[in-house]
Amino acid sequence: MPNEEVVVRVSTPEDVRYAQVASALIERASHQHEIATRSPEELAEQIRLGNAVIALIDGELIGFGYFKVWSDLAISHSGLVVEPQFRGRKIGKRLKLLLCEESERRVPDGRMISLTTSPQVRHMNTSLEFRVVPLVELTIDPKFWAGCRGCHNFASVNAPGSTEGELTPTGDRCCCEGMCRRNKAR
Ligand SMILES: CC(C)(COP(=O)(O)OP(=O)(O)OC[C@H]1O[C@@H](n2cnc3c(N)ncnc32)[C@H](O)[C@@H]1OP(=O)(O)O)[C@@H](O)C(=O)NCCC(=O)NCCS
Repeated sequence: MPNEEVVVRVSTPEDVRYAQVASALIERASHQHEIATRSPEELAEQIRLGNAVIALIDGELIGFGYFKVWSDLAISHSGLVVEPQFRGRKIGKRLKLLLCEESERRVPDGRMISLTTSPQVRHMNTSLEFRVVPLVELTIDPKFWAGCRGCHNFASVNAPGSTEGELTPTGDRCCCEGMCRRNKAR
């Protein structure tokens, strides 16, 4: 296992065949982690656009992530996931670095945003100069916040009378931490 070559690269349109596996990987992770589920169709679109990063071993998908640009040029990094048996081998870090590079190259005027409870992601974000910001400063685009409905915490955090988490610009509650990094051209 340790000698297996892990290829990490930006997606091309031919990679849409991985959309189903990526969606299933995220779905399995969502049972234990605060990661919102994403349909194969949505991921296929991001893969086709070259907005995804993938990690492969022998042509099998073992890691995934994608970025998406919102109306106010916030660039979210989402769906970051590594197959459990391959975690802790810096594959997540390689995916995150490539997401930063590619999203900065493609949207130089943007600012990268991240919404997470994952200690690993917080650690990576901090080492990449992301800083913690209030959720209301992440993005005002309601379509971004609609994505939180696929998180397993959404219903309980938004139950009547709940004071858990923090308010988002759309008035929902969220228990993730918001982090942001301005691109250099900004
Ligand atoms: C988050 C995830 C993608 C990380 O992938 P990974 O390949 O295991 O991560 P890496 O091995 O690259 O480790 C990333 C960094 O986190 C650090 N780290 C590991 N465990 C940590 C912990 N408990 N607390 C803080 N940092 C930690 C590592 O040391 C590494 O930093 P370094 O390169 O400076 O040493 C993976 O854990 C995962 O799939 N989690 C489930 C889905 C999820 O929660 N996704 C995030 C949604 S926002």
